[in-house]
Amino acid sequence: MKKVVISGSGLFVPPHAISNDELVDSYNAYVDLFNQQHESDIGEGKVTALPYSSSEFINKASGINSRYVMVKEGILDPNIMMPLIADQDSSELSMQASMGIEAAKQALEQAKLQAEDIDLVIVACAYTQRAYPAIAIEIQQALGTKGFAYDMLVACSSATFAIANAVNSIRGGMANRVLVINPELTSPQSNFKDRDSHFIFGDVATAVVVEKQELAHAENAFNVLSMNCMTEFSSNIRSNFGFVNRCDPDKADTPDKLFHQQGRKVFKELLPRIYQHLDKQFEAEQIKPEEFKRLWLHQANINMNMFVVKKLLGDNVEATTAPIVLDKFANTASAGSIIAFHENKADFVTGDLGLLCSFGAGYSIGSIVLEKC
Ligand code: COA
Repeated sequence: MKKVVISGSGLFVPPHAISNDELVDSYNAYVDLFNQQHESDIGEGKVTALPYSSSEFINKASGINSRYVMVKEGILDPNIMMPLIADQDSSELSMQASMGIEAAKQALEQAKLQAEDIDLVIVACAYTQRAYPAIAIEIQQALGTKGFAYDMLVACSSATFAIANAVNSIRGGMANRVLVINPELTSPQSNFKDRDSHFIFGDVATAVVVEKQELAHAENAFNVLSMNCMTEFSSNIRSNFGFVNRCDPDKADTPDKLFHQQGRKVFKELLPRIYQHLDKQFEAEQIKPEEFKRLWLHQANINMNMFVVKKLLGDNVEATTAPIVLDKFANTASAGSIIAFHENKADFVTGDLGLLCSFGAGYSIGSIVLEKC
């Protein structure tokens, strides 16, 4: 089997940060407004008064302290509660393409490659801002990559599933060098009026270069030793946004068209599936969890990650073993584990093992075992 490596990674951080306190202040101002506007209905028991959100809850329940967004205007205005993103002319570079290109340039630089060395671009993320033409093809043209390009959506597992696709495209002879790009523009799909989820997401873009080992120039490449993907249908994390929405105008804008979840259920149902999934992979590859120098895990909830680490490695594990980036970036959908990888791989020496693992909507779980070349 052809050896395939990840030879570079990149991270684009959006220009605006929002702290928990800022977000909670605006949410609570929205609550005051809502409760005032519905005062008599609330008094008559026809409408339930909205309760306040709190920074303490957010930090304790999720580990999130802040997030980045592409456009801050509108999000914190209690009368608006969404980013005000102007409609773009078709001749302009789309927002997701511009985010992805910045991350891709860094990944190419790390891999010591030029754009024309790439013969496949996969844009993989939770949402694409349009159906077609693919954002990946727009990036192909803007960067000047060769070959072909396509978009794929597997929610939070988009990045790991796309890396698996990239590796298989190289092994199958369809490509030599692949850019996998994750422009996670989550803020337009976040419901900033929903107390359960208004704090969860952040925008970001990540990218990795995946290539045939024999072609790689970079000293800091990681060999892909093993890949495993699983899915199982669940509506516990869901968005009903889609191209059919406009056909029922009365319901086109209802809250189910934005991200919503049963967070507690997700927590409980996903964890055992993650353990089983990883156990199966480790058994097949004859790898013991203790052999990993680092676990670059999905970044949705710090408590969830601590459970995974404890189950795999027991107690007394150093914090550096499974680095947390969600405190600063929040949940960035598929980009989370790639940010953790990008920021925490420089100390690897030849032979060190690391695990890249995503989990989320679908349900979906993707895990990739990497060995430093
Ligand atoms: N501020 C203050 N209190 C809040 C609140 C907020 N923003 N949101 C919820 N609460 C309250 C609830 O009303 C509830 O109160 P009650 O006990 O009086 O009924 C209490 O806090 C607990 O709520 P719950 O929703 O059970 O919290 P949780 O501990 O499950 O944490 C999540 C919520 C979303 C952080 C957590 O469930 C989670 O991250 N799950 C995993 C989700 C995941 O991985 N999703 C993948 C997404 S891609």
